[in-house]
Amino acid sequence: MNSIILDTTAAEQFLSAGAVDALKEKAVAARAALEAATCPGNDFLGWLHLPTSVTPDIIADIQATAKTLQEECDTVVVAGIGGSYLGARAVIEALGDSFAWLRDKRDAPTVLFAGNNIAEDYLAELTDLLRTRRFGVINISKSGTTTETALAFRLLKKQCEEQRGKDTARRVIVAVTDAKRGAARVTADKEGYKSYVIPDNVGGRFSVLTPVGLLPIAVAGYDIAALIDGAQQMERATADGTAFDDSLALRYAAVRNALYAQGKKIEIMANFQPKLHYVAEWWKQLYGESEGKQGKGIFPASVDLTTDLHSMGQWIQDGERTIFETVVSVAEPEKTLLFPHDDENLDGLNFLEGRRVDQVNKMAELGTRLAHVDGGVPNIRITLPRLDARSLGALIYFFEVGCGVSGLLLGVNPFDQPGVEAYKKNMFALLGKPGYEAEGETLRKRL
Ligand code: PA5
Repeated sequence: MNSIILDTTAAEQFLSAGAVDALKEKAVAARAALEAATCPGNDFLGWLHLPTSVTPDIIADIQATAKTLQEECDTVVVAGIGGSYLGARAVIEALGDSFAWLRDKRDAPTVLFAGNNIAEDYLAELTDLLRTRRFGVINISKSGTTTETALAFRLLKKQCEEQRGKDTARRVIVAVTDAKRGAARVTADKEGYKSYVIPDNVGGRFSVLTPVGLLPIAVAGYDIAALIDGAQQMERATADGTAFDDSLALRYAAVRNALYAQGKKIEIMANFQPKLHYVAEWWKQLYGESEGKQGKGIFPASVDLTTDLHSMGQWIQDGERTIFETVVSVAEPEKTLLFPHDDENLDGLNFLEGRRVDQVNKMAELGTRLAHVDGGVPNIRITLPRLDARSLGALIYFFEVGCGVSGLLLGVNPFDQPGVEAYKKNMFALLGKPGYEAEGETLRKRL
């Protein structure tokens, strides 16, 4: 595999001399602490060797389940939220045809997502659409008790059973959840669904390389063996004992922490390829939930470029100088399209005739990076050789290990998310869930 390239030169030029050097030893020590499981959150380190623990048998089993769903369904709905859907969606959208659902001919079922919001219109429109579909469901929840997912699954299960009959529903509903706990596990066992276990020691946002991500990605028709192969290669390239200067993940973690220490509080992930939109959404959850705690943490934001240069470009170029930018670039597009000739040349663009559209995009990227650096925005660039499963697997693991190290450098436990509970408690109290009535009364008086 041509590897991922990390270029931090245009970020380090903003840092005081020795700022990154000062973090080298700490970064190496943080990586060693992950390996030795001596860091905070050490009961959630199952992701660290996940790629190399995925055997061909595991892949074959997931592919067999995917095949059943492919044969029996034209549409598969993934019910899940946060780490229980973002990784799958990121990979599926990155590898997919931008207009897949409008094509007359499709090789694999359309994969849709639900259980990641509680919007009545969304769910009503989805259930309406599904009335004419041969659909199946992948119900993904580590806790098995998440309200958004449970609500969507309740609707989907009922509809699937009514439309397709109980027996077929049993074959086309699959659960990915805890081994023992939670409603999703109880339902799966009671109904006899095929099910997969999310290991106890793998947190939701680190779970994309388990069946949480692998099953939906395989159903959508993408090569999960290549995805895992890419992740395995990155696991080896960032292994404990790798020198700081040889480990992309250690450098990424150190540079972003050095920038943070010098007042750069917001990291904006920028892509020049709309298919990467959900990669940024996945990355935002990974870093946001891992680092945003105890009053600390870089705020992860994202833009799709060049689209957002016409909306957020002004702010990035000229707004408060508390940001830095991480561009995820793809060296070689999968398709080829040349800029056409126009006899009238009214737009004055004939000088581009015969050049690849990607060449224009790359110059837009370079021009933007230079402009932002001139505007005082440190710039990190991550280049993928191609937008394929292998590169995405490597990128996923790179960000995961970078996140673990970065959180430890920041001085937080990167593997918990205590802040996520607050809204749930209020919501249950306001809805009058048994046991929460008293809090509900108090809350209602407040706003
Ligand atoms: O990273 C996490 O643990 C969370 O973001 C979860 O993925 C998210 O809250 C969904 O939880 P669950 O899979 O338990 O439904």
